[in-house]
Amino acid sequence: MHYFQYRQGELHAEEVPVRKIVEAVGTPVYIYSAATLRRHFRVFDEAFSDIPHLVCYSVKANSNLAVLRLLSREGSGADIVSGGELYRALKAGIPPERIVFSGVGKTEQEIEEALSAGILMFNVESLGELEALSRVAQRLGKPAPFAIRVNPDVDPRTHPYISTGLKKNKFGLPEEVALKAYLKAREDPFLQPVGVDCHIGSQLTEISPFVEALRRLKALYLRLKEEGLPLRYLDLGGGLGIVYGEEEPPPPEEYARALKEELSDLPETTLILEPGRVIAGNAGILVTRVLYVKSHPPKGEEPGRNFVIVDAGMNDLIRPAFYQAYHRIAPVREIPGEETIRADVVGPICESGDFLARERNLPPVSPGDYLAVFSAGAYGFVMSSNYNSRPRAAEVLVDGERFFVVRKRETYEDLVRLEEIPEGL
Ligand code: LLP
Repeated sequence: MHYFQYRQGELHAEEVPVRKIVEAVGTPVYIYSAATLRRHFRVFDEAFSDIPHLVCYSVKANSNLAVLRLLSREGSGADIVSGGELYRALKAGIPPERIVFSGVGKTEQEIEEALSAGILMFNVESLGELEALSRVAQRLGKPAPFAIRVNPDVDPRTHPYISTGLKKNKFGLPEEVALKAYLKAREDPFLQPVGVDCHIGSQLTEISPFVEALRRLKALYLRLKEEGLPLRYLDLGGGLGIVYGEEEPPPPEEYARALKEELSDLPETTLILEPGRVIAGNAGILVTRVLYVKSHPPKGEEPGRNFVIVDAGMNDLIRPAFYQAYHRIAPVREIPGEETIRADVVGPICESGDFLARERNLPPVSPGDYLAVFSAGAYGFVMSSNYNSRPRAAEVLVDGERFFVVRKRETYEDLVRLEEIPEGL
């Protein structure tokens, strides 16, 4: 569900023609829909409204301050993985007591920043990190609330790069190691165990791996409660998938129903969820302009190949190159007729891996046409880079009939702002 729809052949973002934004801001440009973000958050949050819960939006999916502010107004907390994300979340007005801090490589400085800010809990991923947490807490004279991220060894059946809950992945600690660490932490006045955490992967399209992970989490939680640990939070991470093409992920209500069933005997426990993609993914598009269209004629047995060369590259949206991810692509102004071409949609970067789509059937597009790349609101701009010295794209937020540039397009000056040529070189 999203608010990017065609009206009289023109793609609109809510009430605003996409063409109007593009003419004002240029391309490539990320366009987010405020109504879609609100709706996604509400549907997700309301699905859990009958149990104690906290939705901590996963900042890494889309960390624009305006997006974070909008979600904080909806009551969202934040799942962060760095000092930078903490800074953004606080700046956007997310209350520290709604922030959880995940990630395998937190530095002591980051731990100190988060502890000073008064976050809800640290999701600790190694014994070394637990020691570091205790050291920092002692230094600040402030006990640190924590959960251990367990690695439940559950197969999320998603792309290997975004599977995180298998033993071979670097994330979390095995249950038996976590159990010992919790028990040991009881002797440390600066470590305050408050929950148990896991996150098994991203873009999951089935419920059963979540249920399986929750069962394992719950078993450990109950065991620790028996040992007298005052735990209150079960954090199941994020991971609910979205529709990019043909996927059929469960709707949040169904996902929530399955989780709530598992928790029916734990009414005092607060369930924490860390959704990213399901909130932001389909709330954003990337708009790019066709620069050139060219064909390589067939050679011997090899068929010919068409290329639609656009002004957005893998530096703007890396998902197709990195995960072979599918993103729907369609012209901003519909092209009438049934005719299609089969083409690779490629960017200007000097890499053969620089494509947005391969062997895609498209209407016959021409230079100057604008193309919308759908489902680009999560892991789009945040993963962009300056490779090939390309200024990063602008970001626009549409809200009803209005639109706002929420991040300006970078300039050439921005590209070199932090660089210096040593004198006399
Ligand atoms: N919590 C933790 C601890 C995570 O590591 C992640 C995502 C999330 C929550 C949010 O997961 P989500 O609800 O968005 O699935 N760049 C990849 C996705 C990487 C996800 C990393 N962790 C992509 O473009 O598909």
